[in-house]
Amino acid sequence: MYAVDCDERELVTIEGLRTPEGLHPLQQAFVDYGAVQCGFCTPGMIVQADYLIENNPNLTREEAQRGLEGNLCRCTGYTKVLDAVQAAAEKKKCCGRC
Ligand code: FES
Repeated sequence: MYAVDCDERELVTIEGLRTPEGLHPLQQAFVDYGAVQCGFCTPGMIVQADYLIENNPNLTREEAQRGLEGNLCRCTGYTKVLDAVQAAAEKKKCCGRC
């Protein structure tokens, strides 16, 4: 997507997910599960995962995998990424405040 395509739209960046208390639960889950990759793929994966969780409170691992298919990393597998997303989704279900 080009910047011009975002005119008059709301954008959320990786920095925008941070809360006043610190890391967003998804950011923390990526750290906790060793899912952090490089600065190219990780921000996109986290922002996309946030969108997926916000729009599907009962997000399954398979749905997360399909939802992240457009976010490519050629360097590694996705097991830890999916573990982190699944943990964040479960935590959100648990407390609803994350
Ligand atoms: S670690 Fe980011 S593209 Fe592979």
